[in-house]
Amino acid sequence: MATNRTFTMLKPDAVEKGHIGAILEKISASGFRIVAMKLTRMTKADAQTFYGIHKERPFFGELVEYMTRGPIVAAILEKDNAVEDFRTLIGATNPADAAEGTIRKMFAASLGENAVHGSDSDENAAIEGAFHFSGREMF
Ligand code: RTP
Ligand code: MG
Repeated sequence: MATNRTFTMLKPDAVEKGHIGAILEKISASGFRIVAMKLTRMTKADAQTFYGIHKERPFFGELVEYMTRGPIVAAILEKDNAVEDFRTLIGATNPADAAEGTIRKMFAASLGENAVHGSDSDENAAIEGAFHFSGREMF
């Protein structure tokens, strides 16, 4: 059964390029309600834990460097069918393969630096949201 929440990060490249406002506008216009949100920066240990599923992959070191090089916007979003609909809104992992109008097509530079994260399952959405937010930061 699909739950109604997902978790996102506007990644360091999106923040560096000044795209926070434009991406949040697109997220809101697509019907997502913001449950929790903050500007924060992950430590190396945070990024290694958060992306732990990829720890054996050749790009893991680069991924941790990238995700920790500056602040991110972390947020929990609510909408019917949130996980799947948000993955559709952000587009394919590689922006070269992302559909027109998706966030990655519009704002991402490359496979390695792709502007935005979206949870890939309801279970991970709950884990990732709890990683960044306490209950009193969720509304
Ligand atoms: P995300 O978890 O950030 O939403 O991305 P995703 O599900 O679309 O892709 P995933 O396979 O989970 O990969 C996580 C992130 O690792 C970087 N990556 N680099 N250089 C490479 O070959 C490569 N492959 C993946 C990307 O930042 C990707 O979003
Ligand atoms: Mg992923």
